[in-house]
Amino acid sequence: MAEKEITETSEAQIAVHWGEEAYYAPSVKFIAQANMTDETIYDRFSLDNFPDCFKEYADLLDWYKYWDEILDTSDAPCFKWFKGGLINVSYNCVDRHLAKNSNKTAIHFVPELEEEKVEHITYRELWVRVNEMAAVLRDFCGLKAGDRVTLHMPMVAELPVTMLACARLGIIHSQVFGGFSGSACADRIVDSASHVLITMDAYYRGGKILDHKEKADEAVKIAAKQNQKVDKVLVWQRYPGKYSAQTPMVDGRDYFVNDLLKDYYGVRVDPVKMPAEAPLFLMYTSGTTGKPKGCQHGTGGFLAYVAGTSKYVQDIHPEDVYWCMADIGWITGHSYIVYGPLAICASSVIFEGVPNYPDAGRCWRIAQDLGVNIFHTAPTAIRALRKIGPDEPAKYDYEFKHMTTVGEPIEPEVWKWYYEKVGKGKAAIVDTWWQTETGGFLCSTIPAIKPMKPGSAGPGMPGIHPIIYDDDGHEIPPGKGIAGNICIRNPWPGMFQTIWGDRDRFVTNYFARYCKDPDSKDWRDWPYLTGDAAVMAEDGYVRILGRTDDVINVSGHRLGTKELESAALVVEEVAEAAVVPIKHEIKGVEPDLYVALKPGYHASEELAKKINDALVREIGPIAKARKVWIVSDMPKTRSGKIMRRVLASISNNRDVGDTMTLANPEIVEEIKKMVKG
Ligand code: WT7
Repeated sequence: MAEKEITETSEAQIAVHWGEEAYYAPSVKFIAQANMTDETIYDRFSLDNFPDCFKEYADLLDWYKYWDEILDTSDAPCFKWFKGGLINVSYNCVDRHLAKNSNKTAIHFVPELEEEKVEHITYRELWVRVNEMAAVLRDFCGLKAGDRVTLHMPMVAELPVTMLACARLGIIHSQVFGGFSGSACADRIVDSASHVLITMDAYYRGGKILDHKEKADEAVKIAAKQNQKVDKVLVWQRYPGKYSAQTPMVDGRDYFVNDLLKDYYGVRVDPVKMPAEAPLFLMYTSGTTGKPKGCQHGTGGFLAYVAGTSKYVQDIHPEDVYWCMADIGWITGHSYIVYGPLAICASSVIFEGVPNYPDAGRCWRIAQDLGVNIFHTAPTAIRALRKIGPDEPAKYDYEFKHMTTVGEPIEPEVWKWYYEKVGKGKAAIVDTWWQTETGGFLCSTIPAIKPMKPGSAGPGMPGIHPIIYDDDGHEIPPGKGIAGNICIRNPWPGMFQTIWGDRDRFVTNYFARYCKDPDSKDWRDWPYLTGDAAVMAEDGYVRILGRTDDVINVSGHRLGTKELESAALVVEEVAEAAVVPIKHEIKGVEPDLYVALKPGYHASEELAKKINDALVREIGPIAKARKVWIVSDMPKTRSGKIMRRVLASISNNRDVGDTMTLANPEIVEEIKKMVKG
């Protein structure tokens, strides 16, 4: 069967061997309470009704002034949404909820140490803190709309407070993931030309308190060498009034926020009426090559898009407790911990720590104790939780109505564990496919309207029209079983506006490939290139294979690494799998397979063979791995993605390069020894 499909694909296409998974229907109980059950939403958001359809999302917000033009394409592909509109994000996420929900919890802050009390911050309290912080930014730092500020903060309630204080004044924030080094922070300070850095002295991770302030010193020093002077470093204290870092404060440069705030108690700062198309924040993302790209997200369009998708895809209601376990240092946290949920008056959980500290039950205890009923995380966390405590969820008394998976393709086996064990067979699951660049979801099911299909993200979101092109620019129609480069035909309000300071790179990276006419001002000529390989089924559901860079070419047949990994995960003992290409004289490349096992299982020749047999059985002889390496853990990034590039270097006997930014650099040596023999 696999043979047949392969002969039908050309070099410009990617063969796909996955079988179709069966649908899972959401429960009647879920549907009965859902925010969106009206199937006509897909008609209302059809291409015929584009771009006016997005008024529906914008109307979830309060505007000082409505827009003159819903979509301005005069500077295509730098599209401007809701042009002429005036709005403030902080007002929409905080102030407007005071009339009816002043005492509702906006943020539940869960410290990592279980003996520390959870902090429940009401909308009223959030409003007070945001105002006072805005006063510090405006009156002490002298910042104003359009200025950039770099934030390098951990997962604490002070982070959204700081972001919202910036948004209140139109200051563009650039939050750098707290786990990143001082030098990574410096690069972002330089690129955004920030004069102010906001950080925290320390935070907990894995039971240890980490000195975070030392990274600020390093960042400021490195930035200075590149001629970017940071005048002020504002330091939040993990324990207000106490300094928890070892590194000394620098006189005249470093200030404790908690000290500064004392001068601004009771100060209220009017939200600045910002143009809808003004930038709200920068989020840096690393490409495969070159320096990180500062994805510039706008104000009105971004907020409208994340508010709409939080309401209809996350299905958040006022009485729900919503927990997205991502880090606010990534786009998921910006869109779906802070801005989207708060815009629709949710109670959002912020968890400081790691999911497996102090034990495999931590997440489920938090869910039980706070009454979390909407849970949002990534396959990497799901795999890890499955690995360390496959039967743990059953021990806790919580009930999720809704769960999300995001960040990478989820293997159907892992999806089923998530559904059956974590969701206890009751929760609707959405698999949301999107990117830092896209601001919000591109493909997902709307949970009460479309059934779930394990491993598939689902159809395009309302108003998002995906299309799959082969390398020659021909459309691959749905249901062909052939993958290609997935693009979006149309712009949407959540999409980034440009790469900060580098419009050319924005155009070349994301639009040049399939653009019909570089001078065109018509959005139809500018399909957005996501860089992912995907296959669209007959029913319009999209299954992502991974980045096109992750596709390997065996004897002229392009195979998605994710597909091979999913096949390996069918084997009971396997917890994680990663496929990398290894040079082969005849085939060009051959797959090399790395797997980590669930606890209690041990490596053996038989097991390696069993796993390899699964690849052959599920995909075909072409997928047979040169070797199955059973390792104790995978090298991972700080955000939990498996570093296939490091494994590929080991397999191919190349220099692995700098591994210090990995979450677990020590594993690299161990794997090297094993592979070199
Ligand atoms: C890349 C974007 C989405 C916010 C967090 C990651 C992969 C993301 C899915 C999904 C399959 C996914 C894609 C995408 N990806 N979500 N549900 N199914 N793949 O943002 O770091 O910008 O990464 O993550 O390859 O292009 P990011």
